[in-house]
Amino acid sequence: MSGITRRKKIALVPGDGSGPEMMKVACAVAIVAALKDGLELVFEETPMGYCALKDFGDTRPEPSFRRAVQLGTVFFGGVGDPIIDATLSLERRYLKPEARCLLPLRSEMGLLLNFRPVIYYKELAHLANVKPEMIPEAGIKQIWIRFLLQDSYFGNVDLMKYIPEDVRKTLGIKLKEDVTGDEDIVTDLAYYRKSTVEKYMRAGFTYARLAGLPVVSIDKSNVIPRYVLWRKIAERIGKEEFPDVPLRHQYVDSGNEQLFTPALLHGVMLGGNEHLDVLSDGANKAMGSLGMMCSSAINPDTGAAMFESGAGTAPTLAGQDKANPLGRILTAALMFRHLGAPIGAKAIEDAVQKTLRAGWRTADMCNGKSLQLLSTSGMGKTILETISHS
Ligand code: IPM
Ligand code: MN
Repeated sequence: MSGITRRKKIALVPGDGSGPEMMKVACAVAIVAALKDGLELVFEETPMGYCALKDFGDTRPEPSFRRAVQLGTVFFGGVGDPIIDATLSLERRYLKPEARCLLPLRSEMGLLLNFRPVIYYKELAHLANVKPEMIPEAGIKQIWIRFLLQDSYFGNVDLMKYIPEDVRKTLGIKLKEDVTGDEDIVTDLAYYRKSTVEKYMRAGFTYARLAGLPVVSIDKSNVIPRYVLWRKIAERIGKEEFPDVPLRHQYVDSGNEQLFTPALLHGVMLGGNEHLDVLSDGANKAMGSLGMMCSSAINPDTGAAMFESGAGTAPTLAGQDKANPLGRILTAALMFRHLGAPIGAKAIEDAVQKTLRAGWRTADMCNGKSLQLLSTSGMGKTILETISHS
């Protein structure tokens, strides 16, 4: 093992539900794996979510938020809990942590690119929720790169200032927290800006070129105007700047169906915020379990980045040491690649594969029937031991 040559401070949001249990394990793994690249990781807690509400009276305490943005690298355990949501009074619904913490972090940090790799290994075909014969010998690489800003997620927030009060009223253009349920009409403004889509497409095609993968551009241009723009930009940038990268256009509805024939989606999938939110969950479930999902969100201009599993907080398992930490652990590997620590990243990925090949599972991966069932902390310990001996 090499000596420590650099130090990196990372904002840590342990989060809600089973988040803290999974993040404890993932941080322990990350700290050990980082040493392989001579990197000392220092996690600084920046609490957000319902856990912060108790101590700070807000799900997004300003000092936490500012510090996370300032540090520019965030390891995010996931926030939110539907049971607590249901107890909030109307005036306090703005505190729901997904919209209050996660989306503003993405927006403030300019996190345009969201990477969610889904890898199928032939030897682990029995883990997948598709027929094993659907998985070729060589495996399948699906690199989902979600356009993480704009779209319907940020439309009303971003465009509100351009819309006169009377038009807002007539069309029911509101912020999420102002919707009461009595409205006659509620309108979501979904938009794409040409320059942002171009930047995103260039990044996606560049990744595909480096990885030697084709691009599948997902849209709904048969119906929705912003996807007409999307498709034209994909077509033009593909043809003019990346003629060596194969490009296929795919409507989102039939793309969803292709999750069950995963080899059809071997490549880099480029798609909108809302579409790829949905498809990336399905892709992970098809490959094995949602608890395996890893995710990184990156600002291609500044390098600011957030590493969030994207797989929820498993609130029903909270405090039981049962939730699957592998998504969080694999997310740490994505963080390592971003931080220029490739040895640690590979050590984590190899340890996860080795552990799965040896038959170790968490409950969500085996309906509780495996003889080799591990708890959250047990899985962490197994991965940690494998890494320490690698
Ligand atoms: C994800 C999550 C979030 C999203 C929620 C929690 C706002 O589902 O990261 O995929 O929809 O983006
Ligand atoms: Mn999601």
